[in-house]
Amino acid sequence: MNITFRQLQVFEAVARQLSFTQAAQELHLTQPAVSMQIKQLEEAVGLPLFEQLGKKIYLTLAGQEMFHYCRSIESQLDELETIIQDLKGVRRGHLAISVASTANYFATGLLAAFAKHYEAVSFSLDVTNRASLLRQLENNEKDLVIMGLPPEELDLVTDAFMENPLVVIAAPDHPLAKVDGLSIHQLKNETFVLRESGSGTRIAMERFFAERGLQVQTSMEMSSNEAIKQAVAAGLGLGIVSLHTLALELEVRRLVVLKVTEFPILRHWYVVHRRGKRLSPVAEAFRQFVLDRAPEFAVVARH
Ligand code: PGA
Repeated sequence: MNITFRQLQVFEAVARQLSFTQAAQELHLTQPAVSMQIKQLEEAVGLPLFEQLGKKIYLTLAGQEMFHYCRSIESQLDELETIIQDLKGVRRGHLAISVASTANYFATGLLAAFAKHYEAVSFSLDVTNRASLLRQLENNEKDLVIMGLPPEELDLVTDAFMENPLVVIAAPDHPLAKVDGLSIHQLKNETFVLRESGSGTRIAMERFFAERGLQVQTSMEMSSNEAIKQAVAAGLGLGIVSLHTLALELEVRRLVVLKVTEFPILRHWYVVHRRGKRLSPVAEAFRQFVLDRAPEFAVVARH
């Protein structure tokens, strides 16, 4: 059977409307053009598809069969279009993300919410400190990186999307816990539990004190925010961490934020990739999701 898509499209409109005039209007054709397409289709099929009784037209048995198959061809074409979109990578593939350990307090929730819309995409989330994020960026290993303080020495596309306030934390029974309006000079004799070197939090803290000509005393170095919080709660000293890591501890008063006048140290979170990198459609969609929605996933308790 030598028939065309155009003929089927015209036939579908006439059969649905049961009117040559209305089908012509819908398809922006003249009525003779519609009649011509139907005539050619009937010739190709070898049977009449419509019959006229009085002023009305009806589908013949062959017309009914043709209408049924037209509909299923149409829905198959829709399906094909979705599959083609998928193959273009809009909703398939793999997304590799790396985030600073501190960013993980909101990044996991963010990724989980995004993943619900992309069931056919597989995800990997690497949680690591700033130093190893730099290595990954240098080697172009990940699709996207979420970090504070992007490095200037690499050619990157960086977009700030949310504030990242760093605060001083103490155990609730610490002598400074109830003091209002502390100056940083009053912290001079306090001992701090530090993040590992290579951590963005640590760099920001050291820079902050150095700019003010202060050298704080340090007791221990720990390689995660969780370890710092445990150590501070256990009375090992003060700590400096992002407010984003503290929702639970502040809620149950396991830790308190000291009221130091020059705090918080205000930093920002950035979504980052190498300039010139071709982001996949999924990666681009996630980048946009981060820019639009991240603050909803960063739980900040009152303090
Ligand atoms: P980090 O966080 O301290 O967990 O490396 C990164 C940053 O705050 O820059």
